[in-house]
Formats: sequence, structure tokens, C-alpha cells
Amino acid sequence: MAEIGTDIIKAKRLLEANELVAIPTETVYGLAGNAFEGSAVSKIFEVKNRPSFDPLIAHTNSLEKVRGFVKEIPPAAEKLAKAFWPGPLTLLLPKNKLVPDLVTSGLDTLAVRIPNHSLTLSLLEKLDFPLAAPSANPFGYISPTRASHVEEQLGDKIPYILDGGSCHIGIESTIIGFEGRQTIIYRMGGKSVEEIEKIAGKVKIKPHSSSNPKAPGMLKSHYAPTKDVILGNIHQLLPKYNKEEVAILSFSDSFEEIPEERQIILSPKKDLSEAAQKLFWALRRLDKLNIRYILTELVPNKGLGRGINDRLQRASVK
Ligand code: TXA
Ligand code: MG
Repeated sequence: MAEIGTDIIKAKRLLEANELVAIPTETVYGLAGNAFEGSAVSKIFEVKNRPSFDPLIAHTNSLEKVRGFVKEIPPAAEKLAKAFWPGPLTLLLPKNKLVPDLVTSGLDTLAVRIPNHSLTLSLLEKLDFPLAAPSANPFGYISPTRASHVEEQLGDKIPYILDGGSCHIGIESTIIGFEGRQTIIYRMGGKSVEEIEKIAGKVKIKPHSSSNPKAPGMLKSHYAPTKDVILGNIHQLLPKYNKEEVAILSFSDSFEEIPEERQIILSPKKDLSEAAQKLFWALRRLDKLNIRYILTELVPNKGLGRGINDRLQRASVK
């Protein structure tokens, strides 16, 4: 079983020996390995049961280190990096030869991010290679936002989990790339479209799909619990189901007809940051109940709400 602790020297030694370590970030926990070493990177795909066509994000702690493994940082990207790193933003940049093709699934661009978590930043500072790290969950399942979530699902497959508490953003980073002069958002996430547009000007949002070659991993069904997630108007959905078989995940309302232990309110005060932070924890908790359906609803489609809605939509696709 994995050991859980806060020992970054131990984490460093394991990573230098091409072992995998789960690391906390402000978004979700990552399953990390040396991004320059094919053998470490292939372990990541194996442990996660992730298809090799789904590329990984490289994590490091400074823009200077990023320059060492990409061919260039276009001015538009540098502007965003300077505004938002460390933070929940991933930039697609042309990779150089230090990065094995396995990391990018053969694409020319590498996804790069400086995460904003003190423990992981101190670890990255001590490493002379970036960490390739997808979310530390089995492929297609809900992303982990606590060390215990990682332990439950990958604990028997990795030696160490660096425990950084619960992730304060709670949904993955926003992924941004560039096509000509156009800035494109490929995945909605922890940095809102509004905040990005203040720095980058008008952006284009490309719907993710498995047929979109620029974002091969952004599959329609993802973040999916084992129970059926039904998305709609909860008040209208409730009469259609056997009340014994449902749990509820609502944005701010409670529902008298369902026992309290089978409902989670993401944010009674309608705060989208609080809702994002609780989202994956809530889905995991409801998924463990003896029920068949999780009835849920979209949240306001602004700020972090867009990232939340994207996750809910994909969790509801079977
Ligand atoms: O917040 C996050 O981004 C977390 C933490 C651990 O940093 N990581 C994360 O990784 O969410 P993952 O592997 O679960 O999601 C990365 C996404 C995948 O959907 C993948 O397809 C996309 O990034 N991606 C990676 N490299 C890409 C590239 N070169 N072009 C397009 N999409 C890419
Ligand atoms: Mg993931």
C-alpha cells in the first residue's frame, strides 16, 4: 500500500528512481512521474489505465525551466503565464526533443503548467526535470481532491502519496492553446473565461470531443461515477424516480422528500468557488451510497460555473 505523508525528500528520491508519486495541486491531485523518462511516463499510463492517445500535462515551478523543454513561448502565452502562474492554467506550447513523444501522444505541442500548491512547488524546485501528471484517478472516473481519494483507488499501485490536504480549487486547470493569432480554450477549468479574456482579449471556446485531434483526451464521457448521473431540473426529475433509489446533488436548494444523508448542497450561499471545491468530493460520496441514480442540475454558466457544468455534463454521459 502507498505511504501517505508530507516528506518531499522521499518524494524526490522516488521520482528520481522513475517511480510514481501522487502530488497535491490547487486543482486536483496528480499522478506524477519524470516527464523526461519514457519508463516513468509509461508507468503513468499503465497505473491509470489511460489510453496512450491521451496526452499528459508537464508540471514545473518556473518559467525559466519551461524554456528549457519547449521550442518557444509565444508572446500571447507568456502574457497569460505571467498573469496566472502559478495557478490553474495549462498552456499548449511546442515541445523540444527532451520530452518523449509518449508524453504528448505524438502531438507537437506539450501541455505545461505551474501549479499553485506550496508543498508541490517546493518539490518541483528540487527537481531538474518536469513532472508529467494526469489527475490521479483511474481513467474516466472522478478526479481526486484529497489524498484519501488517491489511496482508495491507486493506493496498491504506487509507493507514495504526498498529502497536501484538500484541493482548494477542486476542478482541473483551464487548457489554452493558440491557432494562428487566435487564443483557444480547449478545456474549461479553474481559471474562468472572464479572467482569461481580461488578459488575452476575446478567446474562442472549442467544444471538446473525442474526434477533435487537438484535444484527444477530452472525451464526451468522463468524470463519471458508477451510478447514473441524471442532469436536469431536480424538481421535475424527482417524481419520475423511485425515491428510495435516488441521491441529490444540488447547487443551493434542499429537497424535503429525500433524507438529508442522500443529498449534498454544493453551496447554500450560491458561491461558485465553493461549489467547484466540493464537486468531486460530493460525487464520490454520493456514488458510495446504496442508490441507483444521482439527480443533479447545472449551476449558473459564468465564472467557475462553466467548468463545473462541463464536468457535470460529462459525468452524466454513459
Ligand atoms: O488541473 C489539472 O490540469 C490536473 C492537475 C494534476 O494538474 N491535471 C489534469 O490532467 O487534469 P489530465 O491528464 O487529467 O487532463 C489533461 C488534459 C487531457 O484531457 C489531455 O487530452 C489534454 O489535457 N492535453 C494534454 N496535452 C495536450 C495537447 N498537447 N494538446 C491538447 N490537449 C492536451
Ligand atoms: Mg483527468
